[in-house]
Amino acid sequence: MNKQQTPLVDALAAYIDKNRLRQHMPGHKGEAAGWLAQFGALSAWDVTEADGLDDLHAPEGAIAEAAALLAQAVGARQAHLLVNGATVGIQAAILAACAPGETLLLPRNAHRAAWSALALGDISPLWLPVAMSDDGLPLGITPLQLDEALTADPQVKAVFLVYPSFYGVCVDMAGLLAVCRRHGVISIVDEAHGAHFPFISPQKSAVRLGADLVIDSWHKSMGSLGQTAVLLNNTDLQPERWLTLLQTSSPSYPLLASLDAARADWCAYTEERAQKIAADRKNLADTLRQTANLRLVGADDLPQCYNYDETKTLLYSVCGHSGWQIADVLREVGVEPEFADNRHVLFLLTYAGPEDERQRLAAALLAADKLLDELKPQQAVLPLQQMPLPDAKLRPFAAAHAPVEWLPMQQAVGRVAAGLITPYPPGIPWIGPGEVVSAGLVVRLAELLAAGGRVQGLRDNLLPVIIA
Ligand SMILES: Cc1ncc(COP(=O)(O)O)c(C=O)c1O
Repeated sequence: MNKQQTPLVDALAAYIDKNRLRQHMPGHKGEAAGWLAQFGALSAWDVTEADGLDDLHAPEGAIAEAAALLAQAVGARQAHLLVNGATVGIQAAILAACAPGETLLLPRNAHRAAWSALALGDISPLWLPVAMSDDGLPLGITPLQLDEALTADPQVKAVFLVYPSFYGVCVDMAGLLAVCRRHGVISIVDEAHGAHFPFISPQKSAVRLGADLVIDSWHKSMGSLGQTAVLLNNTDLQPERWLTLLQTSSPSYPLLASLDAARADWCAYTEERAQKIAADRKNLADTLRQTANLRLVGADDLPQCYNYDETKTLLYSVCGHSGWQIADVLREVGVEPEFADNRHVLFLLTYAGPEDERQRLAAALLAADKLLDELKPQQAVLPLQQMPLPDAKLRPFAAAHAPVEWLPMQQAVGRVAAGLITPYPPGIPWIGPGEVVSAGLVVRLAELLAAGGRVQGLRDNLLPVIIA
């Protein structure tokens, strides 16, 4: 097979061409009728495991070929196509690496998917605090920090690394993987936000740097449909045993085929796409230099051992406007950012976008800057330090099985949390099941809510705790 081929797209097209009278699921039978009319041709493509279309849970035809081509394109031994996001890839990788009771080392900015794997597999977490930059940007962990932690706890079975972060910060992956190898632990890299690395920055790709298991969320930056992602395996571990336990028995073929199509496009247009993204970033940087209020975070703003993924564009106001204020004025001028937090706003630069995107974005940023001139900065004074690691009383598995009550936040202090409490965005939990709610956490949550932040896991501002 060559990299221009799209076996899964072709198998699906061939099935549609047979024009069989569909007496199978999905129940719409491929008709673009009723509400499905607005999806047009997609209705016909929306099939699951029909005749000749292989089986996601035992692939040996078109799905296996599409996965092999993807693995080859990114330099991995094996690839698994995912229809439940990077989330299911993270879960399967962790469950394949750690048995119940074994220890997984994680940075505190791990995505909630890692927490769910801890709970599903009764795995013991060893958390590492994540450093913050001087202006409140979560950074990551360093090779030295990892080395010290692994030396202090030789029981650790696997290490989970986040790379790049949602904010675009890249840890020293080569250094961290070298430490993992030295200590003989399995490395799992959550590269959800870096699926483009193997194509436009191969020297940064976790697989090429020798990671054991890597999860890439293709829907985030590669152009495949929402929910699609890939789990890459360079080991003899068998994450597919877990994927088959965790993924749906009716995978959506448009989702799977979109991975095949996106991979072929990336193989064909790698150079053009890399140039387009670099030109987009330059355009943004040039425009922002003309504004009074807005600036771009780049590698130079980070401590030396961190790098930056230049497909992310992280803006902040030098005049002290909050990220939420910036996002509001951007919406007024017709731009929807990826996310905003207390201080920052994030844009994604991808291979896609309308032809006049650069001009429109430049005009909108200049207009937003004028609106910010008129707006009194309201940056909430949230502490810039990462929260201290909470005490843990139970493993996430035991906590997930315990009875729950919902308490006003103040009354929850000293009690054991029953769920994840996660500022969203960026979706990184502040506390998880089994950990003790501290007075400091409650103060921080109240400040965040008062400043306009959103928090997942609360219900009418009540916090879930375990009934002792
Ligand atoms: C760092 C990180 N890892 C994993 C995920 C999960 O990705 P998905 O939405 O594809 O399940 C996210 C989601 O935003 C994320 O930010």
